[in-house]
Parts: sequence; C-alpha cells; structure tokens
Amino acid sequence: MKRFSKKLSIIAKDTNNYLKKILSKKNNSYLVRPMKYGIFSGGKRFRSAIIVNTGKIFGIDYKKLIAVGSAVECIHTYSLIHDDLPAMDNDDMRRGKSSMHKKFNEFTAILAGNALLTLAFEILSSKNLKLSEKVKNELITTLAIYSGFSGLAGGQYFDLSYENKKVSKKKIIDMQQKKTGKLFSFCCECAAIIKGQNFNERKILKKLGSDIGLLFQITDDLIDFKGDSKIVGKPTKSDKKKGKQTLVNLFGYKETLKFAHNLKKKINKKIKKYGIKSNDLKQSVEFILDRRF
Ligand code: IPE
Ligand code: IPE
Ligand code: MG
Ligand code: MG
Ligand code: MG
Repeated sequence: MKRFSKKLSIIAKDTNNYLKKILSKKNNSYLVRPMKYGIFSGGKRFRSAIIVNTGKIFGIDYKKLIAVGSAVECIHTYSLIHDDLPAMDNDDMRRGKSSMHKKFNEFTAILAGNALLTLAFEILSSKNLKLSEKVKNELITTLAIYSGFSGLAGGQYFDLSYENKKVSKKKIIDMQQKKTGKLFSFCCECAAIIKGQNFNERKILKKLGSDIGLLFQITDDLIDFKGDSKIVGKPTKSDKKKGKQTLVNLFGYKETLKFAHNLKKKINKKIKKYGIKSNDLKQSVEFILDRRF
C-alpha cells in the first residue's frame, strides 16, 4: 500500500505537470481559471495510474501514457463537476474544497465541465502526441463512445433516475459499469489500441477495466457509508439520504464488502496471466479496497 501510494503520487505529479503545460498556453478565456480550479484540486489520478500500469505490461512509452491519462482525467473531472451540481447530486464539497458551483456559480460549473470534456479530445488529437493518426482516431472514437450515452453519461442518467426506486442488483451493477466502469475500460483497453492488438485482446482488457471500475465504484459506495468526510474530502453518508441505489443500500455494508472481495479475487486472477510485468497493476487493484479516500 505504502509503496503503491508513492508510485501513485509520482504518476499524479507527472499527469498534473502535463496538464499544467497544456493549460498554461491557454489564458485567453475566463473559463481557464475555473477549469484549473477543477482539475488541480488534488484528485488521486487513479485512472492515469491504471493507464500507466496497464501500458507497462505492453512496454508502452511512459510519456504517451501520461498524455492519454491526462485526457481521461479531464473527462473524469468534468463528470465530477457536473455530478456535484444541484440538478444532480447537489454536493457542496469536492476534493476537500468547495465544489465548482459553490466556488463560482452553476453556469460556470456547466461550462468549465464542458470545456474539460472537449479538452480531453484536444489532447488526444494533438500533434504533440506522437502516435499514428490511425491509433489516435481509435483512441478518440473509443473514449467518445465510453463517455457518452452508452457509457458515463448514460450511467449517470440511470444513477439519478433510480433515486428512491426499488432497483435490482443486476440493474445497479449495469448502471455502475456504465457510469464508472466504462472510463476504466478505456484505461485498460487503450494499451491494446496503442499496440494495435486484435479485437479479442481489446475485449479482454475492456472487461478487465470494467471490473476494476465496478470495484472502484463499490468501494466509493462503501466509503460513503463508513468514511470520514474530512479524510474523504467530500460529503459521506449521503447516498442513503439521497435514496441512491447501491449494493450497500440493497444488501448492507458487510455483504457488499464480501462481494467486493470476491470481485477483487476475480480481477487478480485475470491479471495474473500477464506475469511479472503486471505487478504494478495488481498493486493498483489492491489499493482500491484498502484506500480510505
Ligand atoms: C470519485 O472518483 C467518483 C467515482 C467515480 C467513484 P475518484 O475517487 O477517483 O475521485 P478523485 O479524482 O480522486 O477526486
Ligand atoms: C460518480 O459517482 C460517478 C461519476 C461518473 C461522476 P458518485 O456520485 O458516487 O461520486 P462521488 O461520491 O460524488 O464522488
Ligand atoms: Mg453521482
Ligand atoms: Mg456524487
Ligand atoms: Mg459516491
């Protein structure tokens, strides 16, 4: 855990430096200040770490992985800014600070979120990213699909429309695989895209990422139930109040923790086949359930 935390902080620093370089060139808009407030607010950069650690298995250049990680972290941050809005989860705190609409206002939060979403695709299509046009095109298409109506946005729609309704385990898992899992699918699958691997290898990594994302979201729900908001940096004990449909609310804390441990075992089994090169990815998975924030 300690060793991984150190590695994660290096990846976070490199991701932040990459994003700083990109945003320092853009000072011609009033939106840049809120975008910086949103993106440089102390996110763990765990998605960037999954990209780096999956890329390691395939021997992909670290700098390129950090660029792709930066793009994904832009989309993730946009999703959190919008997630906190009064029309969605209506939360006042994010990453230990005022959420974007509290610090600025709602229209700024909507627009800075939109601008971070499009910035992700600007990063992936940039000439500075030294990948072939074919690979870039495939990265952009895949990330667009996974962020859209059948992925993150579609999952968030279910999350909000399920509030205070009785929903089955299957539907909850499907919702979580979309709202959180799809972005993690991209984090694993992008290594196969960069390496030009076949459909089958892409499918395996897509599913691995989806499982990792599901484990991540379930742990987020467990942390919401048990965590201390001072450590977590966002409100806790709020999913129940909002009538959110989570496994914790359906089966209770203990059963959900058991489910999560089984899911982790399943994930570890899949990672094992990649051998010693997958050690960092394995450590990333261990971090998910052990983390307190
Ligand atoms: C929180 O994600 C939202 C979920 C999808 C569970 P993170 O826990 O990765 O948030 P940051 O980026 O570290 O703030
Ligand atoms: C958010 O899930 C998932 C997204 C895709 C943004 P949550 O609503 O549980 O995330 P937190 O707890 O506010 O970070
Ligand atoms: Mg939410
Ligand atoms: Mg929320
Ligand atoms: Mg949550």
